[in-house]
Amino acid sequence: MVGRWAYNFMYRTWAPWEGEARSELVDLVTSGRIVPGRAIDLGCGSGANSIFLAEHGFDVTGVDYSPVGLAKARRATPPSLSIEWLPGDLTATSIPGISGTFDLLVDYSVLDDLRGPAQDAMAATVHRLSHPGSLFLMWCFYDEIPWWKRRGGRFPGLAEGGEQRLFGASFEIERLAEPARGSGFACFLMRRS
Ligand SMILES: C[S@@+](CC[C@H](N)C(=O)[O-])C[C@H]1O[C@@H](n2cnc3c(N)ncnc32)[C@H](O)[C@@H]1O
Repeated sequence: MVGRWAYNFMYRTWAPWEGEARSELVDLVTSGRIVPGRAIDLGCGSGANSIFLAEHGFDVTGVDYSPVGLAKARRATPPSLSIEWLPGDLTATSIPGISGTFDLLVDYSVLDDLRGPAQDAMAATVHRLSHPGSLFLMWCFYDEIPWWKRRGGRFPGLAEGGEQRLFGASFEIERLAEPARGSGFACFLMRRS
């Protein structure tokens, strides 16, 4: 696990994932497969995905436990957009300022960095903040590389099948074509039943 202190440090120095809104989310929204509604960006960091969603008509809340990431997100928000930026721990049983459920939940690489009870706790947050019909887009490092192809150490990420274990009982799960199988990454689009 990276940890809050390390995330703050990376947002002050160099956070390799920062940049544009992520391609899978952009494709799903611009193709009309995901339509505007109430959205939450779980672990929004410096906010590229949230800002993209707000620009495309979503009513957006971005949550993160890094005050440095959130400050960057606030600064990056165009004055024409209204986004609710909230500090919060996604493994807690509640997040101050958030009530109700969301039509779209987005997780780009938060749950995959959690382990054991923390992963179960964030899955509980996803369940608590969703309703039947909600979409949950989850991009993750995915531990499906055979051990003989790994270059040293354990490949990080969600254990293969973790999406079924955590969400299979209440979400229909589709694995998107990209990132490709065997790449060490995966993106799942889930619909709450
Ligand atoms: C790898 S970064 C990805 C940021 C963003 N989703 C993106 O794609 O640009 C993971 C983010 O999750 C946040 N995070 C990690 N664990 C968290 C937790 N338990 N509660 C809230 N935020 C968390 C970190 O502060 C960081 O901003």
